[in-house]
Amino acid sequence: MRYGHFDDEQREYAIERPDTPLPWINYLGCEDHFGIISNTGGGYSFYRDARLRRLTRYRYNSTPLDTGGRCLYLRDDAAEVGATPLVWSPSWQPVRRELDQYECRHGMGYTLIRSRLQGIEADIRYFVPLGDSLEIWEVTIANRRSRPANLSLFAAVEFCLWDALDDASNFQRNLSVGEVEVVEGVIYHKSEYRERRNHFAFFACSAEVAGFDTQREAFLGPYRGWESPSGVQAGLLSNSIAHGWQPIGAQHTRLQLKPDEAKTVVFLLGYHENPPDDKFDPAGSQVLSKRSLTPIIARYRQPQEVEAAFLALRHYWDELLGKLSVTTPDPHTNRMVNIWNVYQVMTTFNLSRSASYFESGVGRGMGFRDSNQDLLGFVHLAPERARQRILDLAATQLPSGGAYHQYQPLTKLGNNDIGSGFNDDPLWLVLSLAAYIKETADWDILDEPVPYDSNPELAEPLYGHLQRSMQYTLDRLGPHGLPLIGRADWNDCLNLNSFSDTPGESFQTTTNKDGKVAESVFIAGLFVLAAQEMVGIARHRGEADAFSDAASKIEDAIWAAGWDGAWFRRAYDDSGNPIGSKECEEGQIFIEPQGVCVMAGLGVEDGRAQRALDAVADRLATVHGIVLHQPAYSRYYLHLGEISSYPPGYKENAGIFCHTNPWIMIAETRIGRGDRAYDYYLRINPSTREDLSDVHRCEPYVYAQMIAGRDAPAHGEAKNSWLTGSAAWNYVAITQWILGIRPTFEGLEVAPVMPSTWDGFKAERYFRGVRYLIQVERTGPGNEIRLEVDGHPIEGTVVTLPPVGTQEVRVIAKVGPG
Ligand code: GLC
Ligand code: GLC
Repeated sequence: MRYGHFDDEQREYAIERPDTPLPWINYLGCEDHFGIISNTGGGYSFYRDARLRRLTRYRYNSTPLDTGGRCLYLRDDAAEVGATPLVWSPSWQPVRRELDQYECRHGMGYTLIRSRLQGIEADIRYFVPLGDSLEIWEVTIANRRSRPANLSLFAAVEFCLWDALDDASNFQRNLSVGEVEVVEGVIYHKSEYRERRNHFAFFACSAEVAGFDTQREAFLGPYRGWESPSGVQAGLLSNSIAHGWQPIGAQHTRLQLKPDEAKTVVFLLGYHENPPDDKFDPAGSQVLSKRSLTPIIARYRQPQEVEAAFLALRHYWDELLGKLSVTTPDPHTNRMVNIWNVYQVMTTFNLSRSASYFESGVGRGMGFRDSNQDLLGFVHLAPERARQRILDLAATQLPSGGAYHQYQPLTKLGNNDIGSGFNDDPLWLVLSLAAYIKETADWDILDEPVPYDSNPELAEPLYGHLQRSMQYTLDRLGPHGLPLIGRADWNDCLNLNSFSDTPGESFQTTTNKDGKVAESVFIAGLFVLAAQEMVGIARHRGEADAFSDAASKIEDAIWAAGWDGAWFRRAYDDSGNPIGSKECEEGQIFIEPQGVCVMAGLGVEDGRAQRALDAVADRLATVHGIVLHQPAYSRYYLHLGEISSYPPGYKENAGIFCHTNPWIMIAETRIGRGDRAYDYYLRINPSTREDLSDVHRCEPYVYAQMIAGRDAPAHGEAKNSWLTGSAAWNYVAITQWILGIRPTFEGLEVAPVMPSTWDGFKAERYFRGVRYLIQVERTGPGNEIRLEVDGHPIEGTVVTLPPVGTQEVRVIAKVGPG
């Protein structure tokens, strides 16, 4: 069952009814100002940091689901005196009056909601313009009745007192600090501005305002909710000024519309900063200075400026999405590669795991391993931003080579609460940096001085950071010569050094074992993979290669202690017993080491890779995707940690982590099995799952972190959509390995391992300033690829010709079974 449809031409997903199984969201903003918006206008806005600069309040886990947010109300003022007036929300929530027509279209950085009730049409466009810190709600109301309409339009937001966590807990203080100003129809939210803040929020309206409210209780009325504010019912607001309690912004404007007449009202919800020494106007007063903001508001009050800003946003996305576009025989692949997967990659790059409808925006900052992996899919979109991100991440590394597991985006400082000691973290930096150089050939980045622990006195060229990342692993080898796992490796819930029996303790940071025994085969595979990149980098710099010997020793250790006979083991626990082995009662085989070890090339030549991947197919693959391990853990194991805390089939306990599935896709391409790789790709491709929306429940246009595994009662149900490494990795798997278009240090490689049902495909890729027009033709079964560049055959599969404007690459491929 579906709740909407894709409109690929417009690059939109059109939702046809408001009551989707869960709120289906989109993101507004792609620079510093962000909004999360659901298909009924729910959600919230923030500036840069979802925790520390939260503009509007949002109640997660509320009932009914997803109320509050961007509230719009229409009121038919012509109703007879004494009769209950007709009031509705054109975005359905919060009033939830049934609409005659409804459609929500989520697009690239904007959302459109169109609806109609009793001949009154509403057309709302929400977006954040490039270059300014505000959210635009452009509301057009049209009268399709045969008689004039007298309407009131209300718009309301509830302000958050900046720190979203404090806002939701520190009531003894917060209920007394709320302050606003209202000047010329603009509502300014300035709580704490008098003291240490130099920023404020505002809510403005382009039309003449008939009234406003800034005190929540005055607007809603006592003991009433957002679905029926008393001010809206009465058709009259009380011009309340908030002192303490809950400051809001509610605007009221009247619309008189002749038949077929339409009017547009623009609401602006924004954030503004003043210089700390120029906060007040007049100086010495307590009145906030509006000088630098006034021209911005004036500008966006004009509809033609709003239109221009919208077109600029469209153009911005045209450019980004144009960096790689493909035409394959499969519409699901085309739409994900050309539109939605890239869009999600951008979103995860911007927000890491901070703010979604499953990530509350108050917890995790930017994850070290997460952001490095997100970059793998992002780097070709905006290399200069990727460069900055790499430098920021590397600056949170420690002199040991280890890294803070997370950092706060606002301060860019490592997060002490969680600290370091996740032993895979530093290796991901090597992978992301290699991807960056392959894309850009910006070798100079390696000489950039970058601090350790954010301390400029501890700066060293970035290349040194990479070497320390590698050395960190080598300094921490366990009894089998495999890397020690520390607090966890990629699987945050495999906590082999934390035996936690106290509710509420962190499984990750409550470390009570000395950490010198538990080892990770996953980190071992990752090290081998990273070492291959280091060899490529060293060769280019003309330096001795320092890590291939170490990598072969670790490879030996993997074969000696990490190979279980038919697949790779996962780890060794604190007692030296294997995890992910046929010897185990539960958790006999895990997906992660099969993926990473084969990606690193282990067993590709001698058939062991194939055996491992066959074991994945036999034991882990389901119709909804590949689960993390089997059998699921049926009880809590003190020595395994959080992984066994989840009920079987959910999250890290044998859920389908969409992040890891692409590793198997890539591994399958490494052994030439394009059909298998592509089959796995389609199983979790959100667009192919659109028909299952009642089972899948999350948005059909983006990946979710997890789909419930076969042990869960709700097998196939997705959770934690949007902010997940699944976005980047699926993008890498399909574009670089299945379609085979991948940057290398030497040039662009084209080596598809595509499904045997395809005749070929076309692609256009901008790479290091050159436009590559790629045409792949499958001429038969086999395992042979020949390239012609501008009509001339070349050796191998890497296009190394000197860059000029456009190059045509013809690929003649014999791939797959006959
Ligand atoms: C979450 C975390 C990620 C981790 C994964 C598996 O997605 O953000 O860092 O690798 O879970 O535990
Ligand atoms: C929890 C989650 C896991 C996530 C981790 C991040 O353990 O279950 O998915 O990676 O938190 O800290």
